[in-house]
Amino acid sequence: MDVPPVPRANPSAKSLTFAQNIVIFIAIVFRLSFIGFYCQGLDLRVLSGIQPSGGLHIGNYFGAMRQQLQLQAEHDCFYFIADYHALTSNPTPADVAQRTLDVTMDYLALGLDTEKTVFWRQSDVPEVTELTWLLSCVTPMGLLQRCTTFKEKVAQGISPNHGLFAYPVLQAADILIYKADLVPVGADQKQHIEIARDIAGRFNNAYGEVLTLPAEHILEQVAVVPGTDGRKMSKSYGNTIEIFEPEKSVRKKVMRIVTDSTPVEEPKDPDKCNVFALLKLVASSKELAEWEKRYRDGGMGYSEAKKRLTELLIDYFKPFRQKRTELESNINYVKKVLADGAERARDVAAKTLAQARKAVGLGA
Ligand code: ADP
Ligand code: TRP
Repeated sequence: MDVPPVPRANPSAKSLTFAQNIVIFIAIVFRLSFIGFYCQGLDLRVLSGIQPSGGLHIGNYFGAMRQQLQLQAEHDCFYFIADYHALTSNPTPADVAQRTLDVTMDYLALGLDTEKTVFWRQSDVPEVTELTWLLSCVTPMGLLQRCTTFKEKVAQGISPNHGLFAYPVLQAADILIYKADLVPVGADQKQHIEIARDIAGRFNNAYGEVLTLPAEHILEQVAVVPGTDGRKMSKSYGNTIEIFEPEKSVRKKVMRIVTDSTPVEEPKDPDKCNVFALLKLVASSKELAEWEKRYRDGGMGYSEAKKRLTELLIDYFKPFRQKRTELESNINYVKKVLADGAERARDVAAKTLAQARKAVGLGA
């Protein structure tokens, strides 16, 4: 086969005219904007789930939900309520149902766009449990035994059921069945996403390239939002401030945030203060810098910072409260949102499951 000659620079060529330079400049700009446009079109599939285990709190919001909602503008987002996962802690049937609706209303009030984003209840697409089984059969026990969330629960004295042990495999199936590229979560979920990636790799190695390897997306500066007792804010520690709890109780909880006993007049370290950690989430950078100075200068009591934090938290979520109240009186609409989302989600899930079944040799 003839190989075309490699074009060489011509040493005798004249330098370019002004007009030629302009043409090249326009061509570069045009090409760059074309590339930008092209990348925008490259939709990443973003997926995340949240357990319906009680009212969502500001740790959930700043650690995970806010980024999930922002990602809707640019990407193909899939978000769901992980009610199968919630069963691992054996809630009452009434709680499962009510909390699922509560989380749905929280997401809708906070700006989930049902036109753009696929939003559903995990158990409405039971295909995911079949994929869980296929994945279980390529998951080494050791991978799950090393899982810190499991070890922590056991250390808390919980007598673990098999569902809790296998929890990361169901989570992997959640992610892999929708072929997600990116999973926005708080830092505590990092290992679960690594496990999902590991399981996907093992499945593909054994059966061919069926599954997409996902990556976690974690905002480091809000990776762990502290609760009122200074530990990670979590429903299981009872140290939360809920997004939509009555303003009076937000006030009470903020006043109860644990601080050290440095006297008012002495300088304080903002980086060691739970109140300051929460101020960081809601105060403007200008106001935050002023608080930082006041901490370091001394002469400021923690109760003053707490009062301001209460105001800022209430103001931050105020625009969403009205919407939340409206949704409460329109439960049929809320249920319809979930039903429509499930239909869209199932379309995708059924296809991946069919590929995975075929790959392992089922139903041939
Ligand atoms: P909880 O610990 O209250 O049960 P979940 O485990 O249901 O919360 O977490 C739901 C999402 O919110 C996850 O992505 C998790 O990483 C994130 N998240 C929960 N608590 C915090 C926190 N205190 N700081 C940052 N992110 C959090
Ligand atoms: N384990 C997650 C949590 O407790 C919830 C979850 C279930 C999830 N399946 C998921 C998160 C898939 C991201 C992707 O917060």
